[in-house]
Amino acid sequence: MAIHKENDAQAAPPAAAPQPAARRLAPLAALRPFLRPHLRLILLALVALAVAAGATLVLPVAAREIVDHGFDANAAAHIGRYFFGFLAVSVIMGVASATRYYLVSWIGERVVADVRQRVFSHVLSLSPEFFESARTGELLSRLTGDTTLVQTVIGSSASFALRSIVTTIGALLMMAITSPKLTGLALLSVPVVVVSIILLGRRVRGLSRAAQDRIAETSALASEVLNSMPTVQAYTHEPVDRERFSAATETAFTTGIRRTRVRAVMTAVVIMLVGACIVGVLWVGASDVLAKRLSSGQLLQFLLFAILLASSVGALSELWGEVQRAAGATERLMEILATTPLIRAPSQPLRLAQPVRGAIEFRQLRFSYPSRPEHAALADFNLSVAPGDAVALVGPSGAGKSTVFQLLLRFFDPGAGQVLLDGIDIAKLDPSELRAQISVVAQEAVIFAGSIADNIRYGRPEADDAAVQAAATAAAADEFIRRLPLGYATLVGERGITLSGGQRQRIAIARAMLRDAPVLLLDEATSALDAENERLVQQGLANLMAGRGGRARTTLVIAHRLATIQKLKRIVVLDQGRIVAQGDHAQLVRDDGLYARLAALQF
Ligand SMILES: Nc1ncnc2c1ncn2[C@@H]1O[C@H](COP(=O)(O)OP(=O)(O)O)[C@@H](O)[C@H]1O
Ligand SMILES: [Mg+2]
Repeated sequence: MAIHKENDAQAAPPAAAPQPAARRLAPLAALRPFLRPHLRLILLALVALAVAAGATLVLPVAAREIVDHGFDANAAAHIGRYFFGFLAVSVIMGVASATRYYLVSWIGERVVADVRQRVFSHVLSLSPEFFESARTGELLSRLTGDTTLVQTVIGSSASFALRSIVTTIGALLMMAITSPKLTGLALLSVPVVVVSIILLGRRVRGLSRAAQDRIAETSALASEVLNSMPTVQAYTHEPVDRERFSAATETAFTTGIRRTRVRAVMTAVVIMLVGACIVGVLWVGASDVLAKRLSSGQLLQFLLFAILLASSVGALSELWGEVQRAAGATERLMEILATTPLIRAPSQPLRLAQPVRGAIEFRQLRFSYPSRPEHAALADFNLSVAPGDAVALVGPSGAGKSTVFQLLLRFFDPGAGQVLLDGIDIAKLDPSELRAQISVVAQEAVIFAGSIADNIRYGRPEADDAAVQAAATAAAADEFIRRLPLGYATLVGERGITLSGGQRQRIAIARAMLRDAPVLLLDEATSALDAENERLVQQGLANLMAGRGGRARTTLVIAHRLATIQKLKRIVVLDQGRIVAQGDHAQLVRDDGLYARLAALQF
């Protein structure tokens, strides 16, 4: 009878703490909308479950029949019938169990796939401010780990739990029918066992949580180290990290062992208590059989039902912990789904007049990043750029240059003032329509896993090969691409070849070229390159800015090296979020301000 007793130790049975339990399971209700489409399958699964449980409950009765009548001399002819009955019940049980298993697993897999898709798609819609505070690793673990927990519950635990509940109730009823007296005796012993489980269970739960936290700490440590291996090795930091990791795993070990010790004691106590109760009940039962108040078949039937009862209760208490963990996971997932993006399309977005000309205006802009509300990243910022013009933004690092781009892309909304594109406040546009008008080339070109052609097509997936090649040619990339082993089909990114900084940058320029947007933002696009590469990239950038069919793109250039923007007619000097001067190179040098100082340092 002690088969499942060890599991009891993991968590107290549901009756243990109804109040907090109800609260802790509430998050699971959030899964209802995901289950609703599968109502028919759920009903079918319930039917299969009922049939299987029913068949399980018939077996002990059949056993009694055989013991009480099967061995009568005159029943020799019928004995086959009993065993055929047994066989039939087994077949029904098998088919029903398999059906339930299949249906429930299907529902679990389906729901988890839906939850994953919903969460991922929702995360993609969130604003940059969300990604500033959320760590990517944590998001990933929610998407994979938490959804898997939900799957265990919907896909298996829920059905095991239901089956166990049905068999628990059924077995208890059948025990009462078989022998009310023995059932009463058995039930008398329940409170003793339950109380000891509750008391020890609480302690185990606390220790379990502590053990989980320790394990999380070790993996956080490991991931930090593994993600910066070059630095770790260059600074010969390995011994320190080895030491730290060992210390963390040792702590996890001690915590785990402490929990196991309590569990072991608990298992011993529970098994001994249960054993004592069984002995007592059987003793009474055996005397009843001897006194002919009970048939031996009935005693067997009672015993079998009692075993069934014990194992279902054991299974339930084991499942309880799992269900709770899944409730926690569901809560975390629903938290993500409940996050609303700060930047959203207005309900009635305005449309841009076609063709978009690319006139940009920043009007009385004031902005602070959400994480630093007291610090103005931009203040009194006024700037207007006519269609097709190129304007350079220069200034020391931290002056607010990149912030200007972030606001134009509407990654953030300004605290005051407006950004206008072709005379329309960008807050009144659908962000995706706004962003479709803008190409960005940043300092670090992002290369995605895939072929070179895929990477160039990133902003315009439907472009044909000729267009891809034309863009690469204009970006001064065609030549090096052709020399690669598979040309445009060469795989780059995670599992492909590694490109040099200049090559990556030219791919990024080709990508922007193909996107063919009227507004172009260059954020230190050549800062990371050596002189030779810079010359090639500059050529690509010049072609990109020149645009198509005589229509130049409106371009904002952030440049660290003043040489690259020296020729532009309009240079805007930023310092601490404010425009401190503007003009052309010669004027600004003559003014002898911040620009002149920066220029003096560089030339
Ligand atoms: N995501 C951010 N959260 C909080 N502060 C930021 C963020 N990005 C930039 N800042 C701050 O805003 C100011 C302007 O930054 P940025 O526009 O990146 O400067 P630049 O591009 O001119 O070097 C700096 O003080 C910087 O520390
Ligand atoms: Mg910057």
